[in-house]
Amino acid sequence: MRVLRYFAVILLMSAFSSSVSSGDPVAGEARYKQSCINCHGMAGKGAASYPKISGKEVSYVTAMLETYRDGIEVGPNSSLMIMMAQPLTDVEIANLAAYLKDAVYQQP
Ligand code: HEC
Repeated sequence: MRVLRYFAVILLMSAFSSSVSSGDPVAGEARYKQSCINCHGMAGKGAASYPKISGKEVSYVTAMLETYRDGIEVGPNSSLMIMMAQPLTDVEIANLAAYLKDAVYQQP
């Protein structure tokens, strides 16, 4: 039993540290401007029927992008996102999530 608990703690710690330290927000911003800005707007602020995606937890954005990449529909317009997420690598997803967490739209 004690061994199991020890194992669980190690697992938790590694899950935690990878979600905190991985993404590169600068690379994420560049990737965002390549193919996400057209729908989600400046700094992920959202536009018309496209949801706001900035200011969200890294774990949330990561999970959503992985879900779309797996081809799973979660909303009425998921087919658009499935198409966008399919080419993303794990590193790109981590970078995008790191960028979007703190992205703020600055009024010009
Ligand atoms: C063609 C327009 C379009 C493009 C380009 C696009 N998205 Fe989306 N995105 C959508 C739509 C529409 C939804 C809502 C989909 C649904 O109904 O499930 C969405 C949903 C999302 C969500 C989930 C939002 C939530 O609150 O659950 C995330 C995260 C996201 N997009 C990130 C991205 C990223 C990162 C990129 C660039 C790689 C991107 N999107 C490119 C249209 C787009």
